[in-house]
Amino acid sequence: MKVLESAPRRYDRGMGLLSLGRMERIYHAIADEVAAPGRRILDLGCGTGGVALACAGRGATVVGIDENPEMLEIARAKSSPAGAPPVEWRELGAAEIEDAFAPSSFDAVTASLVLSELSPLECGYVLRTVHSRLKPGGVLAVADEAVPAGSLHRLLWRMGRFPLACLTYLLTQTTTRALADPAGLVSAAGFAGIRERRLGWGEVVLVTARREEASR
Ligand SMILES: C[S@@+](CC[C@H](N)C(=O)[O-])C[C@H]1O[C@@H](n2cnc3c(N)ncnc32)[C@H](O)[C@@H]1O
Repeated sequence: MKVLESAPRRYDRGMGLLSLGRMERIYHAIADEVAAPGRRILDLGCGTGGVALACAGRGATVVGIDENPEMLEIARAKSSPAGAPPVEWRELGAAEIEDAFAPSSFDAVTASLVLSELSPLECGYVLRTVHSRLKPGGVLAVADEAVPAGSLHRLLWRMGRFPLACLTYLLTQTTTRALADPAGLVSAAGFAGIRERRLGWGEVVLVTARREEASR
């Protein structure tokens, strides 16, 4: 969604329109997987705060990181849900979490629509670091654009995506890469208990996985 990030003030409205109003529900579906009172959660590429605030609303203590200060400014201006712990917003790249947080710092890590913005190399590195920053038994939830499995669905998806991809490139000279095998990516980083389900109309995949408990 690079094209919307180039105008952060329009990001929420733009995502609402592009998702035909389903984005909020997707944020809450992610939070339902990971958030509970007392849990410490890291939200990677938090953007304007949709997932982080949904997790805080369930009583979790959340650190939201993003490399784009303008997206963070919008997030900071939002109030936390009533009674929720305040979210800590930090300007930080996803590849910097190894230095910023000690091993086993979090009960859960979320990454919504951010892995598709990383290079394959960076994505692998970030997921491996996330694994080490989760406590044993901690949960990862990745929601992202994924290439559909069926060939007809994939063809229609490519045709629908093409105009937006061209516009994005024209405006930002960058693009995003829908994930071809999200579960495989997560597995390669050492995660176990991988579950995958489609959200919205199937164009967003939600993958949840666990860092295994240390063997005794
Ligand atoms: C499409 S937005 C998603 C925002 C939010 N997670 C959501 O689901 O609405 C992608 C966000 O990831 C951030 N981002 C992209 N690459 C990043 C990186 N390497 N480190 C930290 N944030 C990054 C962008 O600045 C942007 O705010």
